[in-house]
Amino acid sequence: MFSKDFLWGGATAANQIEGAYLEDGKGLSTADILPGKIRFKYLFEPQKMMEEKFSYYPSHKAIDHYHHYKEDIALMAEMGFTCYRLSISWPRIFPTGIEELPNEAGLKFYDDLFDECIKHGIQPLVTLSHFEMPLYLTEEFNGWIDKKCISLFEKYAKTVFERYKNKVKYWLTFNEVNSVTKLPFHSGGTIVPKGENVDQYGYQILHNQAVASSLAVKACHEIIPDAQIGCMVQYSPVYSYSCHPEDVWNSMLLERNRETFALELFVKGEYPYYANRLFKDLDIQLKTTEDELQILKENPVDFISFSYYMSLAWARDDFIGEITQGNQMSGIKNPYLKSTEWGWQIDPKGLRIALNKLYDTYRKPLFVVENGIGVKEELEECSVEDDYRIDYLKQHLLQIDEAMKDGVPVMGYTMWSPMDIVSNSTGEMSKRYGLIYVDVDNDGKGTFKRYRKKSFYWYKQVIESKGDVLK
Ligand code: BG6
Repeated sequence: MFSKDFLWGGATAANQIEGAYLEDGKGLSTADILPGKIRFKYLFEPQKMMEEKFSYYPSHKAIDHYHHYKEDIALMAEMGFTCYRLSISWPRIFPTGIEELPNEAGLKFYDDLFDECIKHGIQPLVTLSHFEMPLYLTEEFNGWIDKKCISLFEKYAKTVFERYKNKVKYWLTFNEVNSVTKLPFHSGGTIVPKGENVDQYGYQILHNQAVASSLAVKACHEIIPDAQIGCMVQYSPVYSYSCHPEDVWNSMLLERNRETFALELFVKGEYPYYANRLFKDLDIQLKTTEDELQILKENPVDFISFSYYMSLAWARDDFIGEITQGNQMSGIKNPYLKSTEWGWQIDPKGLRIALNKLYDTYRKPLFVVENGIGVKEELEECSVEDDYRIDYLKQHLLQIDEAMKDGVPVMGYTMWSPMDIVSNSTGEMSKRYGLIYVDVDNDGKGTFKRYRKKSFYWYKQVIESKGDVLK
């Protein structure tokens, strides 16, 4: 069922892979002040992060892709990738975000990177903003809560569309855009003052980013008529812990209010029918204009992309049970599922459910742009016997195949991630997702050498056979 046009590959993000954080004129990004292993708690206390100095910042070196990109793309090509999802670092192009003219050296880096992909027959799929923005915009305007960011982002988007119009035909606007209602700093560069309503900030930022995204969609269609541009959400179908109606209702609310709400704006171009009630319950007064609402309405995305790592389970308010960690959101431990070392529950069938649910509601082509497993691993005889990763990816790909047989159009699959890179939520290198082992530790020490894991050879066969070896 995997068609000959199905895009096969892997995904990364600039601040987790590139390093070279101040090289060739790049400005500081909001991701450059995130510490390593202790990061998670600081994501909820960004003010402290702005004030404190840490001994190590993982994004500063990451895995030094900035200087290894040729070798890295060649490894992806060796696996037969037809697509590579990466993000552009906004502060490499506009170091503070407010410059009139872009930074030529930054533009040149991505020119070279895209040329390298194209040389190997790999289509770049480019995210405009993957959990970062110029730090200056946080310092001056408190990030995306200020509507000035809309036009600054539009300028950045138009600059890269013009520059790469002959090289990049697949674009995404904001990574896991729905995460901003929970994490206004991480996904929106905004610090919520102590005692203020986080939801007020979160949903206002989501609105501002939705307007900016729609303007980017408009510009992309005008500048690159043969390109497709999508939105990107974090999606974990939320199961009801039991058939108790209160459990069912609360699970539905969690999925709707924190996950698919964003899709209503990006796909249908309007606020959902339940928005007024939600805003009343959360005490939110949204600032919108007629013009903004029209921009949303007139510029829906071409496709929906999403990350899928797990499903979630949820229940009534007074439910007492074990809570498990997850990607941006935690849930109740599902007794039927195994978990990773970080508590992320492994549920391949949930991906088929996710694809069917999203297509049922939105009728847009879907793209699975993140899926993978983070594991602590040691190099043994220059490789890693990662059979668990092979099994994880295989089971998820088989469910994509089933969903396509159900009738869901799936454009492609970019697993997370082709190589070990810095973990977004914990800042660790030891949470390894790669098909390629990279010799760097949690303190940025190591040889930075790349080694093919067992899954590297397996994925190569999967792509070569267009999925046939999965069966
Ligand atoms: C997604 C992000 O949330 O999950 C990626 O888009 C991230 O940036 C990936 O790396 C895996 O999460 P983590 O926290 O284990 O790196």
